[in-house]
Amino acid sequence: MPARFKTIIEPFRIKVVEPIRMTTRSERKKLIEAVGLNPFLLKSQDVVIDLLTDSGTTAMSAEQWAGVMRGDESYAGSPSYFRFEASIQEVTGHKEIIPTHQGRASERIMFQSLCRPDQVIISNTLFDTTRANAESVGCVVRDIPCAEGKLLLEPAPFKGNIDLEALENLLKENPGNVAMVILTITNNSGGGQPASLANLKAASALARKFKVPFCIDGCRFAENSWFIKLREKGYENKTTREIAQETFALADIISVSAKKDGMGNIGGFLTMNREDWARDCRNNLILTEGFPTYGGLAGRDLDAIAIGIHEALDEDYLRYRIRSVEYVGEALLKAGIPIVTPPGGHAIYIDAGTFLHHIPSSQFPGASLSAGIFEFAGIRGCEIGSVMFGKTDAEGNEIPHKYELVRLAIPRRVYTQSHMDFVVEALTAFKLEESAKMRGLKFTYKPKVLRHFTSRFNWV
Ligand code: F0G
Repeated sequence: MPARFKTIIEPFRIKVVEPIRMTTRSERKKLIEAVGLNPFLLKSQDVVIDLLTDSGTTAMSAEQWAGVMRGDESYAGSPSYFRFEASIQEVTGHKEIIPTHQGRASERIMFQSLCRPDQVIISNTLFDTTRANAESVGCVVRDIPCAEGKLLLEPAPFKGNIDLEALENLLKENPGNVAMVILTITNNSGGGQPASLANLKAASALARKFKVPFCIDGCRFAENSWFIKLREKGYENKTTREIAQETFALADIISVSAKKDGMGNIGGFLTMNREDWARDCRNNLILTEGFPTYGGLAGRDLDAIAIGIHEALDEDYLRYRIRSVEYVGEALLKAGIPIVTPPGGHAIYIDAGTFLHHIPSSQFPGASLSAGIFEFAGIRGCEIGSVMFGKTDAEGNEIPHKYELVRLAIPRRVYTQSHMDFVVEALTAFKLEESAKMRGLKFTYKPKVLRHFTSRFNWV
């Protein structure tokens, strides 16, 4: 978009459309009450603007759909695989490219193949499926985000960095027993915040010094690269492709869910240079994912990702993508709605604990806000707070999570600027007319694990 104009325009035209069904408030009240106030249990066709996740929800391009038609479904040695392999090799610089059906499959294979029980894994913050897969092989996870990353409402350019001092201490305290250092870029659990190349380089140098493999969870590598171009001195004139390549060159192993910056509706991959690791990972892959040239995907999915991963690095696209998320964030802040600041790459995280400060953690302000904005405006977000991460003690009392957030994740290339204006208008009106009246929630059904998916509630 030419620099002198402020209006954000989508750098694409729309060729295929899907209708959005408009609903009334009284309809939505019945719909959300019928599912125990849990937006995960809604039918997606009852949602006006669906911001539940940016994962797998991407609108594919005409080129990707052309790739889908080219997809070759041979069981072994399909040309789709070789296009996928070449594409991922170019972006990551790694030789061994292992396709998987999605990120958590890459994670499971990586941890089962390369880690042992009781080893330590150190991260800026592992995503929840990554942590669950690491813990399921008996590893102990230590999340050490940088100090700025813990101050939700204070802006800083690279809140996704790892705490380097804590990293060095943990490496010293656990000689020979650290399985991996993993940087998640951008840091999804910490507000979609980027890590700088300086931090990535220092962390990988420390890992190398202590002979520990350095891994990148690169689901949102393109968004992280764009933030580096915008915010890190010395990178303003590099292309995002060059920045992505420089980032990945630091990693011994890369795990990616291609449902984010891979621009796929499904898929993932695991990459490395070590042939012995690749052999072990492929042997594990065959058990559950399939033959190493398709890894749980159809040939057409491999082609869609081979094309999508390059589209994600397009700078006109990234400028629009990051600016449009930032635009929503700026407008919400102006309306006095507290959000994790600055806005993340793929999502806005509303601080529901502050926004609905009259609702205590024990009554789930994030879940109340999620139910409230669905009823008010048909917007579906995702609670990331005490419903998702809260625990219960031996007597069955709730132990709250440290944050009460609601994530509004923006699917890639799906919604237009006027949809974003609607989100801003609706949330601004919600603050003025509804927020003070919102009530807390109490469980009517509380599952033991992954409670956010299936729990049910009533208003207090
Ligand atoms: N790593 C990160 C940083 C993620 O955000 C996700 C998924 C995964 C790994 C797992 O990938 O879903 O393909 O198995 N995040 C989604 C989300 C689910 O909504 O943030 P997956």
